[in-house]
Amino acid sequence: MDVFCCNTKIISGTGAVSALAEFGAGKVFLVSDPYFVKNGTADRVLAATKAQYTEVFDGVQPDPSVELAAEGTAKLKKFEPDLVVALGGGSAIDCAKAMRFFAGEKNIFAAIPTTSGSGSEVTDFAILTYGETKHPLVDPKLRPDAAILDDELLAQLPKSLIADSGFDVLSHALEACAATDSGTITDCLAKEAFVCAFNMLPLSYAGQTQVRLKVHEASCLAGMAFTQAGLGICHALAHALGGMFHIPHGRLNAVLLPAVVGVNSSAAGRKYAEFAKAAGVGGGADTIIVRNLKNSLVRLRRQLNLPDTLIQAGADAKILRSRQGEIIKTALQDPCCRTNPVPVTESLLKQVLDEVTGRG
Ligand SMILES: NC(=O)c1ccc[n+]([C@@H]2O[C@H](COP(=O)([O-])OP(=O)(O)OC[C@H]3O[C@@H](n4cnc5c(N)ncnc54)[C@H](O)[C@@H]3O)[C@@H](O)[C@H]2O)c1
Ligand SMILES: [Fe+2]
Repeated sequence: MDVFCCNTKIISGTGAVSALAEFGAGKVFLVSDPYFVKNGTADRVLAATKAQYTEVFDGVQPDPSVELAAEGTAKLKKFEPDLVVALGGGSAIDCAKAMRFFAGEKNIFAAIPTTSGSGSEVTDFAILTYGETKHPLVDPKLRPDAAILDDELLAQLPKSLIADSGFDVLSHALEACAATDSGTITDCLAKEAFVCAFNMLPLSYAGQTQVRLKVHEASCLAGMAFTQAGLGICHALAHALGGMFHIPHGRLNAVLLPAVVGVNSSAAGRKYAEFAKAAGVGGGADTIIVRNLKNSLVRLRRQLNLPDTLIQAGADAKILRSRQGEIIKTALQDPCCRTNPVPVTESLLKQVLDEVTGRG
């Protein structure tokens, strides 16, 4: 039986932030990071709500911690808003999700992503870091009521962020298609997301701002797909490595994804081949197309100036080797392993890590 549910209202288009007025909120609590407060975007967004009373929590840092979410929860509870707005990348949206969840979510929640990557604006996930571990919280109560996709917020995207978060979209799409909970509807969403992101990322990276709304929508589609279908070992390992080395999430996925496609192709080869063909990757038999897909991902990674190995990405070689067992243990406990198409074992994760560690 296939069940699909996404009740987030998605408002997409240039200037879509103006739709915030529709909520008729009197008290708005904005969760963001210092970048958007400094450059005036937070004020513009608050003005668009037309609310009389506003408060800003601008303490979000990449990979938000449990302690930060707890601090924000106390402020949110005290202010008692009728609308919570998250403005930022996956980190700001996840932090706001967790804060609302801990506060008992008694308000409307609108997420405004400023990166085309996490898809968090439509997912039931929030990733919080505790110590060295990234913990995915998974609950339908985390899902935003509205997602506002406005490409005016993407004009100044740094190239490295386009590349990092773009590979997050590709990994969401390919993990969702291969995941054991995937179905016809999630496949449609993931395939459209993959084809669009795979072909348009180089254009966005080269500065063609007119494709950014499409990539933004692809990120949202991939989020809708994976929140229902599940993910796999690319994300389980990215979470384990991200908690230890604080390398951007999308960059870790970029390093891991081709290797994961390789080890999961025994179970997911047909699906990967279908997605690759739709994106224009050539080849005859499925095994050849999957090999070409893996090579195309590596080429795209280089075109976007992303690292090929964990060591190139900045992970300390000695720590990577001495703590490999711990990384594997943490990844094995990640809920994303449950839906990986191939049963997850220590040796499967070791195979991926050995392939992507690099020299150093
Ligand atoms: N909840 C989910 O479903 C889900 C899915 C995937 C990833 N994640 C999580 O999301 C986080 C990664 O999110 P992300 O990749 O969006 O990055 P991010 O939110 O961590 O932001 C990274 C940096 O980019 C800056 N930034 C954001 N938008 C910008 C813009 N438009 N212009 C200039 N700078 C900008 C931020 O200020 C920040 O310093 C990770 O913690 C990851 O685990 C969550
Ligand atoms: Fe991700």
